[in-house]
Amino acid sequence: MTQAARFITFEGGEGAGKSTQIRLLASWLESHGIEVLLTREPGGSPSAELIRGLLLKGDVDKWLPISEALLLAAARADHIERTIKPALAAGKWVLCDRFYDSSIAYQGAAGGLGIQRVRDIQQIAFGNMRPDLTVILDLSIEKGLARALSREGAKSDMEDRFERMDKSFHETLRQAFLDIAAEEPERCCVIDADNTIEHIQHSIRSILEKRCKLA
Ligand SMILES: Nc1ncnc2c1ncn2[C@@H]1O[C@H](COP(=O)(O)OP(=O)(O)O)[C@@H](O)[C@H]1O
Ligand SMILES: [Mg+2]
Repeated sequence: MTQAARFITFEGGEGAGKSTQIRLLASWLESHGIEVLLTREPGGSPSAELIRGLLLKGDVDKWLPISEALLLAAARADHIERTIKPALAAGKWVLCDRFYDSSIAYQGAAGGLGIQRVRDIQQIAFGNMRPDLTVILDLSIEKGLARALSREGAKSDMEDRFERMDKSFHETLRQAFLDIAAEEPERCCVIDADNTIEHIQHSIRSILEKRCKLA
Protein backbone atom coordinates (compact mmCIF):
# COMPACT_ATOMS: atom_id res chain seq x y z
CA MET A 1 0.00 0.00 0.00
CA THR A 2 1.42 3.33 -0.96
CA GLN A 3 -1.31 5.74 0.11
CA ALA A 4 -0.36 8.53 2.47
CA ALA A 5 -1.22 7.75 6.05
CA ARG A 6 -4.70 8.91 7.06
CA PHE A 7 -6.14 10.16 10.27
CA ILE A 8 -9.69 8.86 10.79
CA THR A 9 -11.88 9.62 13.80
CA PHE A 10 -15.07 7.97 15.05
CA GLU A 11 -17.76 9.98 16.78
CA GLY A 12 -21.29 9.52 18.08
CA GLY A 13 -23.21 8.95 21.28
CA GLU A 14 -22.70 6.29 23.92
CA GLY A 15 -23.35 2.78 22.64
CA ALA A 16 -23.50 3.80 18.98
CA GLY A 17 -20.83 1.21 18.17
CA LYS A 18 -17.69 3.32 17.79
CA SER A 19 -15.35 0.95 19.62
CA THR A 20 -16.81 -2.10 17.87
CA GLN A 21 -16.51 -0.58 14.40
CA ILE A 22 -13.07 0.93 14.86
CA ARG A 23 -11.62 -2.43 15.90
CA LEU A 24 -13.13 -4.15 12.87
CA LEU A 25 -11.84 -1.42 10.58
CA ALA A 26 -8.33 -1.68 12.04
CA SER A 27 -8.24 -5.43 11.30
CA TRP A 28 -9.49 -4.86 7.78
CA LEU A 29 -6.88 -2.20 7.05
CA GLU A 30 -4.17 -4.42 8.52
CA SER A 31 -5.32 -7.24 6.25
CA HIS A 32 -4.61 -4.83 3.37
CA GLY A 33 -1.04 -4.45 4.62
CA ILE A 34 -1.66 -1.05 6.19
CA GLU A 35 -0.02 -0.32 9.51
CA VAL A 36 -2.60 1.01 11.95
CA LEU A 37 -2.47 2.83 15.24
CA LEU A 38 -5.69 2.43 17.17
CA THR A 39 -6.15 5.10 19.81
CA ARG A 40 -8.91 6.80 21.77
CA GLU A 41 -9.89 9.92 23.66
CA PRO A 42 -9.81 11.15 26.26
CA GLY A 43 -6.32 9.67 26.52
CA GLY A 44 -4.05 8.10 23.94
CA SER A 45 -0.71 9.19 25.45
CA PRO A 46 0.61 8.56 28.97
CA SER A 47 -0.12 12.09 30.21
CA ALA A 48 -3.49 12.28 28.46
CA GLU A 49 -4.47 8.97 30.09
CA LEU A 50 -3.90 10.58 33.49
CA ILE A 51 -6.34 13.34 32.52
CA ARG A 52 -8.79 10.69 31.27
CA GLY A 53 -8.95 9.27 34.78
CA LEU A 54 -9.83 12.70 36.17
CA LEU A 55 -12.59 13.21 33.61
CA LEU A 56 -14.44 9.93 33.43
CA LYS A 57 -14.73 8.94 37.06
CA GLY A 58 -16.81 10.55 39.76
CA ASP A 59 -19.97 12.61 40.05
CA VAL A 60 -21.83 13.79 36.97
CA ASP A 61 -21.28 17.45 37.90
CA LYS A 62 -17.73 16.98 39.14
CA TRP A 63 -16.32 19.47 36.60
CA LEU A 64 -17.54 22.78 35.28
CA PRO A 65 -17.93 22.48 31.50
CA ILE A 66 -15.15 25.06 31.05
CA SER A 67 -12.76 23.04 33.25
CA GLU A 68 -13.69 19.90 31.38
CA ALA A 69 -13.06 21.56 28.01
CA LEU A 70 -9.66 22.85 29.13
CA LEU A 71 -8.60 19.47 30.53
CA LEU A 72 -9.70 17.77 27.32
CA ALA A 73 -7.81 20.28 25.20
CA ALA A 74 -4.69 19.78 27.33
CA ALA A 75 -4.97 16.01 26.94
CA ARG A 76 -5.65 16.30 23.21
CA ALA A 77 -2.63 18.53 22.57
CA ASP A 78 -0.41 15.92 24.23
CA HIS A 79 -2.11 13.07 22.36
CA ILE A 80 -1.62 14.83 19.01
CA GLU A 81 2.04 15.72 19.54
CA ARG A 82 3.20 12.55 21.25
CA THR A 83 1.07 9.85 19.66
CA ILE A 84 -0.86 10.88 16.55
CA LYS A 85 1.70 12.97 14.64
CA PRO A 86 4.61 10.54 15.20
CA ALA A 87 2.45 7.62 14.02
CA LEU A 88 1.35 9.46 10.86
CA ALA A 89 4.95 10.49 10.19
CA ALA A 90 5.93 6.82 10.43
CA GLY A 91 3.32 6.00 7.78
CA LYS A 92 0.72 4.49 10.09
CA TRP A 93 -2.96 5.13 9.66
CA VAL A 94 -4.36 6.53 12.87
CA LEU A 95 -7.86 5.50 13.93
CA CYS A 96 -9.13 7.46 16.90
CA ASP A 97 -12.18 6.57 19.02
CA ARG A 98 -13.60 10.09 19.68
CA PHE A 99 -11.72 13.30 18.95
CA TYR A 100 -12.41 17.03 18.99
CA ASP A 101 -15.97 16.82 17.69
CA SER A 102 -16.83 15.16 21.00
CA SER A 103 -15.67 18.30 22.84
CA ILE A 104 -17.80 20.47 20.54
CA ALA A 105 -20.81 18.23 21.18
CA TYR A 106 -20.37 17.42 24.90
CA GLN A 107 -18.97 20.59 26.43
CA GLY A 108 -19.93 23.06 23.68
CA ALA A 109 -23.48 22.07 22.74
CA ALA A 110 -24.79 19.73 25.47
CA GLY A 111 -22.68 21.14 28.34
CA GLY A 112 -23.80 24.67 27.49
CA LEU A 113 -20.35 26.19 27.06
CA GLY A 114 -21.10 27.23 23.50
CA ILE A 115 -19.57 25.80 20.37
CA GLN A 116 -17.47 28.86 19.55
CA ARG A 117 -15.86 28.89 22.98
CA VAL A 118 -14.80 25.26 22.64
CA ARG A 119 -13.47 25.96 19.13
CA ASP A 120 -11.42 28.87 20.53
CA ILE A 121 -9.93 26.69 23.28
CA GLN A 122 -9.01 24.02 20.76
CA GLN A 123 -7.47 26.58 18.42
CA ILE A 124 -5.17 27.70 21.23
CA ALA A 125 -4.32 24.14 22.24
CA PHE A 126 -3.52 22.59 18.86
CA GLY A 127 -4.38 24.95 16.01
CA ASN A 128 -6.00 23.65 12.85
CA MET A 129 -5.01 19.99 13.09
CA ARG A 130 -7.93 18.01 11.69
CA PRO A 131 -8.83 14.47 10.71
CA ASP A 132 -8.92 13.40 7.06
CA LEU A 133 -12.20 11.61 7.69
CA THR A 134 -14.68 11.54 10.56
CA VAL A 135 -17.22 8.73 10.78
CA ILE A 136 -20.27 9.77 12.81
CA LEU A 137 -22.40 6.87 14.02
CA ASP A 138 -25.97 8.04 14.52
CA LEU A 139 -28.36 6.14 16.79
CA SER A 140 -31.46 6.95 18.85
CA ILE A 141 -30.77 7.77 22.49
CA GLU A 142 -32.83 4.83 23.75
CA LYS A 143 -31.02 2.27 21.62
CA GLY A 144 -27.61 3.79 22.32
CA LEU A 145 -28.03 3.77 26.08
CA ALA A 146 -29.49 0.24 26.02
CA ARG A 147 -26.42 -0.93 24.13
CA ALA A 148 -24.06 0.97 26.42
CA LEU A 149 -25.66 -0.59 29.49
CA SER A 150 -25.43 -4.10 28.03
CA ARG A 151 -21.76 -3.60 27.21
CA GLU A 152 -19.45 -5.92 29.09
CA GLY A 153 -17.52 -4.14 31.82
CA ALA A 154 -19.65 -1.00 31.47
CA LYS A 155 -20.11 -0.65 35.19
CA SER A 156 -17.02 -2.31 36.56
CA ASP A 157 -14.59 0.38 35.47
CA MET A 158 -16.82 3.22 36.69
CA GLU A 159 -16.06 5.11 33.53
CA ASP A 160 -19.70 5.83 32.99
CA ARG A 161 -19.99 9.42 34.15
CA PHE A 162 -21.24 10.66 30.80
CA GLU A 163 -23.63 7.76 30.38
CA ARG A 164 -25.47 8.93 33.49
CA MET A 165 -26.30 12.37 32.11
CA ASP A 166 -29.98 12.94 31.38
CA LYS A 167 -31.91 12.31 28.18
CA SER A 168 -32.03 15.90 26.92
CA PHE A 169 -28.23 16.05 27.25
CA HIS A 170 -27.96 13.06 24.95
CA GLU A 171 -30.53 14.47 22.49
CA THR A 172 -28.54 17.70 22.22
CA LEU A 173 -25.39 15.67 21.74
CA ARG A 174 -26.90 13.67 18.90
CA GLN A 175 -28.06 16.82 17.12
CA ALA A 176 -24.68 18.47 17.62
CA PHE A 177 -22.90 15.64 15.77
CA LEU A 178 -25.42 15.89 12.92
CA ASP A 179 -24.87 19.66 12.74
CA ILE A 180 -21.09 19.19 12.56
CA ALA A 181 -21.55 16.72 9.71
CA ALA A 182 -23.82 19.14 7.84
CA GLU A 183 -21.28 21.93 8.26
CA GLU A 184 -18.28 19.86 7.14
CA PRO A 185 -19.55 17.30 4.63
CA GLU A 186 -16.13 16.91 3.01
CA ARG A 187 -14.62 15.70 6.30
CA CYS A 188 -17.59 13.93 7.92
CA CYS A 189 -19.94 11.13 6.99
CA VAL A 190 -22.98 10.10 9.00
CA ILE A 191 -23.83 6.41 9.21
CA ASP A 192 -27.13 5.05 10.48
CA ALA A 193 -26.01 2.91 13.41
CA ASP A 194 -29.39 1.21 13.80
CA ASN A 195 -28.24 -1.73 11.77
CA THR A 196 -26.19 -4.90 12.13
CA ILE A 197 -22.52 -4.62 13.06
CA GLU A 198 -21.63 -6.20 9.70
CA HIS A 199 -23.78 -3.82 7.66
CA ILE A 200 -22.35 -0.76 9.38
CA GLN A 201 -18.81 -2.03 8.89
CA HIS A 202 -19.51 -2.59 5.21
CA SER A 203 -20.75 1.00 4.87
CA ILE A 204 -17.64 2.35 6.59
CA ARG A 205 -15.36 0.34 4.31
CA SER A 206 -17.20 1.60 1.22
CA ILE A 207 -16.75 5.19 2.37
CA LEU A 208 -13.04 4.62 2.96
CA GLU A 209 -12.63 3.03 -0.45
CA LYS A 210 -14.13 6.14 -2.03
CA ARG A 211 -12.75 8.91 0.13
CA CYS A 212 -9.35 7.48 0.98
CA LYS A 213 -8.84 5.95 -2.49
CA LEU A 214 -8.22 2.52 -1.10
CA ALA A 215 -7.63 -0.06 -3.80
N1 LIG B 1 -24.82 -2.61 15.35
C1 LIG B 1 -24.95 -3.14 16.56
N2 LIG B 1 -26.03 -3.87 16.88
C2 LIG B 1 -26.17 -4.40 18.11
N3 LIG B 1 -25.28 -4.27 19.12
C3 LIG B 1 -24.18 -3.55 18.86
C4 LIG B 1 -23.95 -2.95 17.60
N4 LIG B 1 -22.77 -2.30 17.64
C5 LIG B 1 -22.28 -2.48 18.88
N5 LIG B 1 -23.11 -3.24 19.61
C6 LIG B 1 -22.95 -3.63 21.02
O1 LIG B 1 -23.36 -2.50 21.80
C7 LIG B 1 -22.44 -2.27 22.86
C8 LIG B 1 -21.83 -0.90 22.70
O2 LIG B 1 -20.99 -0.87 21.56
P1 LIG B 1 -19.64 -0.04 21.56
O3 LIG B 1 -18.91 -0.36 20.31
O4 LIG B 1 -18.91 -0.24 22.85
O5 LIG B 1 -20.22 1.46 21.49
P2 LIG B 1 -19.51 2.86 21.75
O6 LIG B 1 -18.04 2.61 21.69
O7 LIG B 1 -19.99 3.74 20.66
O8 LIG B 1 -19.98 3.34 23.08
C9 LIG B 1 -21.44 -3.41 22.83
O9 LIG B 1 -21.85 -4.41 23.72
C10 LIG B 1 -21.51 -3.90 21.39
O10 LIG B 1 -21.18 -5.25 21.28
MG1 LIG C 1 -16.57 3.04 23.08
